[in-house]
Amino acid sequence: MTSPIQAFGIDIGGSGIKGAPVDLEKGEFAQKRLRIPTPENAGPDEVAFTVKQILDEYEVEDGTPVGVAFPAPVKPGRKLSFMANLAQSWVGTDVEAALSEKTGRRVHVINDADAAGLAEAKYGAAKNCDGLVFVTTLGTGIGTAIIMNGVLVPNTELGHLIVKGKDAETLASEAARSREDLSWKKWGKRLTAYYQTVEHYFSPDLFVVGGGVSKKSEKFFPYIDIQTEIVPADLLNTAGIVGAAYFAAEKQSAK
Ligand code: BGC
Repeated sequence: MTSPIQAFGIDIGGSGIKGAPVDLEKGEFAQKRLRIPTPENAGPDEVAFTVKQILDEYEVEDGTPVGVAFPAPVKPGRKLSFMANLAQSWVGTDVEAALSEKTGRRVHVINDADAAGLAEAKYGAAKNCDGLVFVTTLGTGIGTAIIMNGVLVPNTELGHLIVKGKDAETLASEAARSREDLSWKKWGKRLTAYYQTVEHYFSPDLFVVGGGVSKKSEKFFPYIDIQTEIVPADLLNTAGIVGAAYFAAEKQSAK
C-alpha cells in the first residue's frame, strides 16, 4: 500500500501539464510524475480538465494541499492582466478561483518561476543562502524569482526586461536558442547581455539557473561573462512541482 499523499504539485507549461505527489521532507517526488500534453490553445476550461484528470489519476484526497505552478504573474482575488505563453483567454481570469471552481477542489496557485525559486531555496541550490538570490528559469520563456534572505518577492516578471531593444525572453530563452539554432557560444553572449542587465539593476549575490537546459550548464556557463556567482539549479525539472506542493502545504498550515 502506498502512504497517503502529503502534498501534490502540478506544473502548467506551454507543452506539458505535469503532476506528482511530493515528499516534503526530501523535496522529491513521492511517486512517478504524470505528464499530459497541454491542449492546443489551452484556456481555463481545458487546463482545469487536465488538472482534474491528473488529480483523479493519483486519487488525491480532499484536504490534501494541492499547488499549481502557473506561467504568468498570479495574485489570488485579482484578474490576470498578462499572459505571454498560454492562451490569451486567461487574461481577465482570477486563476486560483477559476481552477478551484472548475476542478471542484481548493488549489493554491503560484507563478511557475516563483515555485521553482521556493524549491531551490528550501531544498536546492539556494538553500541557506543569505542575501539576494536571483533565480531564472530558461524554457519557453524566461521566468524569474527573487529571494531575499530566504523570503520570496513574488511575481517579478524580469524575463521581460528590455535587452538590446528586445523582450529578453524572445532574445535569450531556451526556446529562442532552439528556434534560431544558436550555438552555445552565441546563446551565451545573449545570456551575458541579459544577466549583465540584471546585475546592473539588482546586484544579486547569486544567480541560480533552472529549466531543463540547466542540466547542460557546462556547455553554456563558460560563455556567460558576469561578476556574480552563477550555479545551475539542483532540482532541474522537478522544481516547479516540488515548489508548488511546498507552497500549498505552507498556505494550508498557515490557516
Ligand atoms: C511569464 C512568466 C513565467 C515565465 C516562465 C514568462 O513569459 O511572463 O510569468 O514565469 O514565462 O514560464
